[in-house]
Amino acid sequence: MTPFTSTAIKMDSKGLSILDQTQLPKLEAWLESPNVESMIQHIRELRVRGAPLIGVAASLQLGWLAEKGASEAEVEKALWALREARPTAVNLMNCLDRMLRTMKTKGVDALADEAEAICLEDVRLCERMAKNGAALIEDGDQLLTHCNTGGLATVGMGTALGAAIQAVRDGKKIHVYVDETRPLLQGGRLNTWECAKHKIPYTLICDNMAAFLMQKGKVDRVLVGADRIARNGDFANKIGTYSLAVNCKFHGLPFYVVAPRTTVDVNCAHGGDIPVEERKPEEVWKASSAHGAPVWNPAFDVTPSDLVTAWILDTGVYDRADVRAGALIG
Ligand code: MRU
Repeated sequence: MTPFTSTAIKMDSKGLSILDQTQLPKLEAWLESPNVESMIQHIRELRVRGAPLIGVAASLQLGWLAEKGASEAEVEKALWALREARPTAVNLMNCLDRMLRTMKTKGVDALADEAEAICLEDVRLCERMAKNGAALIEDGDQLLTHCNTGGLATVGMGTALGAAIQAVRDGKKIHVYVDETRPLLQGGRLNTWECAKHKIPYTLICDNMAAFLMQKGKVDRVLVGADRIARNGDFANKIGTYSLAVNCKFHGLPFYVVAPRTTVDVNCAHGGDIPVEERKPEEVWKASSAHGAPVWNPAFDVTPSDLVTAWILDTGVYDRADVRAGALIG
């Protein structure tokens, strides 16, 4: 397959490698993913993470398997195993369904090219989302964002953070408040790392400071990513997103979701049908020093569409009336 490097994955003559996101920002360690089993573990353990990126990484792993001479039956078995790696981000299923369709119509030899096409497409989707999102950001804006939504979560420049990066490139002076995003700190560890890299002025806050920050008038708009958007606009994103949406409603602030079309689940009518991943208690024990305490650890929550000001996709910006008219599946 063609060699390439993005912020979080790379392909070379030895195969696919991923930047271990569990070690950031302390250590920038690249890990090889020699086979499908290793990729499933990387995805489960969040060494590679973010909705668009896990779809691309799984597709590239399959493309590599096919290129190494696996049969159609072997590839199909691997594909169904990869599909189960994590349940909420529909990009994983959407990308793998596309790979399956390609194999059924064009044969196993077409899979390496298809995986590369999916990978390159993500870069273009990110650019379009970033432009659409940046157009809504005003010079002087103070933004608030949640989880990590930049180049570590995609192959391209990101979703919500991509819009902020584009706004800075357009010469707008902005400031980003970064939610730390408990329990795994994708904001504190990863978004701060990316903001520093892109020279975006930022301030890190604990998740429970967001409402007070809004009350103080320090937030102009909130931008978040998504792991699965239902046809009616309800969407799943990192746990804590729903609280931000409720707080935006109370404070009269715009709340935007930024995602590529690969995050829309055309088979999902509303948020109640989105499977929400529950993760192991150890993650909360570690974050709270309460080893052994009974724990509930949903990795995502579902925000109802009534709380969303606009959906910023690569295809355009849609308000609630557009979404009611079917814009997300058009
Ligand atoms: O559990 P994670 O870190 O994979 O969750 C990621 C998110 O919730 C992101 O906000 C989401 O994937 C959209 S940004 C690309």
